[in-house]
Amino acid sequence: MVKRSLCFTRMIKNFLIGFILLTIVAIALLGFQGQRSQETAIEFFGDMKRQDKVKFQKPSSFFADGRAARPPVDGTIPMGYDIPGHPMQNSEVPKDDISSPLGEFSAGTDYLNTGKMGDQWGTGLPLPVTTELLQRGQKEFTIDCAVCHGATGQGNGITSKYGLLGIANYHQDKYRQMADGQIFNTITHGYNTMMAYGDKVTVKDRWAIIAYIRALQKSQDARLADVPEDQRAALEKEGKQENPPQPAQPPQTQTQTQPKQTR
Ligand code: HEC
Repeated sequence: MVKRSLCFTRMIKNFLIGFILLTIVAIALLGFQGQRSQETAIEFFGDMKRQDKVKFQKPSSFFADGRAARPPVDGTIPMGYDIPGHPMQNSEVPKDDISSPLGEFSAGTDYLNTGKMGDQWGTGLPLPVTTELLQRGQKEFTIDCAVCHGATGQGNGITSKYGLLGIANYHQDKYRQMADGQIFNTITHGYNTMMAYGDKVTVKDRWAIIAYIRALQKSQDARLADVPEDQRAALEKEGKQENPPQPAQPPQTQTQTQPKQTR
């Protein structure tokens, strides 16, 4: 009987010691409730945010080309476009109708599709230059080009603030004199650090953008000679009214290379 009760008290004692030890361990591990900690939380199973996945615009060793983002499968067609060279392609839409939502990507070897005449760059727009064409060009330019080349084409788009160097400033003579066909080719195939837009911008839209670039260039480099003769007098008069006579300023020689900021 005595032996039995001794055994029982020992059991209770062991249990209590075990319980206290466990409590200490539990508090040590988990801390008091409401305590803040800078330590990383203990993860018994890995959190879902840590898993094998590819991140947007990041490299990945998973694919042979090292890119995480996958280029579209060959032959992928953006919604609303036909297959280049396909018999169904825009068959109903006249070539110079830019209002059509359908457009084509380079298909032929002619000037319209390559910007080349034989083995030379051609120049001149193969589409009628209308207000619609310029508006279309402005829209497409704003979407595809302004991030780098800037809204006025001075090469000061937002990417230039983040380290992209050497973006072409369209207001340099080099680009003023560049053949339209060469610009077309640059849009289609890219140039050095500028990527190709041939698979993103349709042929018509490329020409529309070129028309708009020419308008941008003119906007910073217009001369009185560009104004129709019968309107020059009115323009000069208007200019005089807006700028009343004032003391002479030292002549500005830089106006050509530093176009006026329009914003
Ligand atoms: C990601 C930035 C970026 C975008 C977007 C971009 N460009 Fe460029 N572009 C450049 C850079 C950088 C250069 C200078 C390349 C060089 O001279 O090495 C350049 C050069 C050019 C040139 C001169 C090429 C030559 O032959 O010297 C033209 C013309 C041009 N871009 C037109 C466009 C048009 C049109 C678009 C829109 C469809 C466009 N760019 C979109 C970065 C860009």
